Amino acid sequence: MLTDKNILLIIGGGIAAYKSLELIRLLGKSGAKVVPVMSNAAAQFVTPLSVSALAGTPVRDELFNLDAEAEMGHIRLSRDADIVVVAPATADLIAKLANGLANDLASAVLLAGNKPVMLAPAMNVAMWENPATQRNLTTLRDDHRLIIGPNEGDMACGEFGFGRMAEPEEILAAITTALGGGVLRGKRVLVTSGPTHEPIDPVRYIANRSSGLQGAEIARAFMALGAEVVFVTGPADAARPVGAKLIEVQTALEMEAAVNAAGEFDVAVFAAAVADWRVASASNGKIKKTKGKALPELELVENPDILRSVSQRGSGRPGLVIGFAAETDDVLENASKKRLRKGCDWILANDVGGPRPVMGGLDNQITLISEDGTEEWPWMSKRQVAEALAKRVSEAL
Ligand code: CTP
Repeated sequence: MLTDKNILLIIGGGIAAYKSLELIRLLGKSGAKVVPVMSNAAAQFVTPLSVSALAGTPVRDELFNLDAEAEMGHIRLSRDADIVVVAPATADLIAKLANGLANDLASAVLLAGNKPVMLAPAMNVAMWENPATQRNLTTLRDDHRLIIGPNEGDMACGEFGFGRMAEPEEILAAITTALGGGVLRGKRVLVTSGPTHEPIDPVRYIANRSSGLQGAEIARAFMALGAEVVFVTGPADAARPVGAKLIEVQTALEMEAAVNAAGEFDVAVFAAAVADWRVASASNGKIKKTKGKALPELELVENPDILRSVSQRGSGRPGLVIGFAAETDDVLENASKKRLRKGCDWILANDVGGPRPVMGGLDNQITLISEDGTEEWPWMSKRQVAEALAKRVSEAL
């Protein structure tokens, strides 16, 4: 929570400005007071009226507003804040702050401030990669400015790459951490996520339909409550959670090694859809199809069960170990047995064989099974599932 914290939010002029509305809503929900400042260009993307209405206070948008400036408004604005957040931070705002320019209210507030400054960059990938922008970012990092994102992904301009603004939840999590808040502050959480790819030969592999979205949302939800998250992910489509310690792996064996090397945790959530089997010995060369010859036979061996081995660790077992049970038949019965067989504390059962797609989809329906019994949650977005889980964990610790 950010109860009674004052956030000065500078909204730069970029297409990602629309996401700042959601950020204001999230900040308000966690108890913060938001004072919005809009650059002149920002008003081309979101209206000052909607920003004011969501923040519950008027937008500040002019350097030479006589009423406000009678009491040196721009100095006061920066001093009253606990943190100054720039979202989206355009290439222009980044350049101004890096070089100490102050020719409008947004840049003047940034220059006059004596509080932590966090920037969430958002721009076209070529602008992001431009040496001038990268030089400015190096300067800002040296000046101890906090930088969150950007993410990689599709952009409004139709291109793909780094430059998408971090998601509002990720910015909220980073603000919470920067201000030392969050009920899970000081807790270490491990999240495994995504599918694994088990090689057959250099061009083929065994995989599954996991998108990694549920795991990424879980990591974000725990960070939003102030936890330090280590995120071990297979080759998933979903955007990586910004702010987590990221460990990328391909295979189940690599995931097991990464988990074992990652240290001790208060909580471990195993959201990865680990392949149960791997090919006993993957071919070094591409397996060719040869007319008239027998079809290749793949000998499979079982992969290590990472959830099981962590659950059954003697010393150094996380205080709370949570697994998923992806089932298609007798969901609750199988999931309950799975919890006992693996030795984890909670299992989140989901039906992956129903008409509504869970693997690869946006929503999920969970039944939480613990030694205290079962708890059926309604259909929710994977983000809501993640928030509900993080809240439930914070109550249980
Ligand atoms: N899991 C794991 N390592 C494995 C297999 C699964 O850590 N090698 C974890 C998953 O991350 C998940 C839980 O175990 O939290 C259950 O995964 P699931 O695929 O439902 O079960 P399996 O163990 O594969 O059992 P089965 O295929 O028999 O349903």
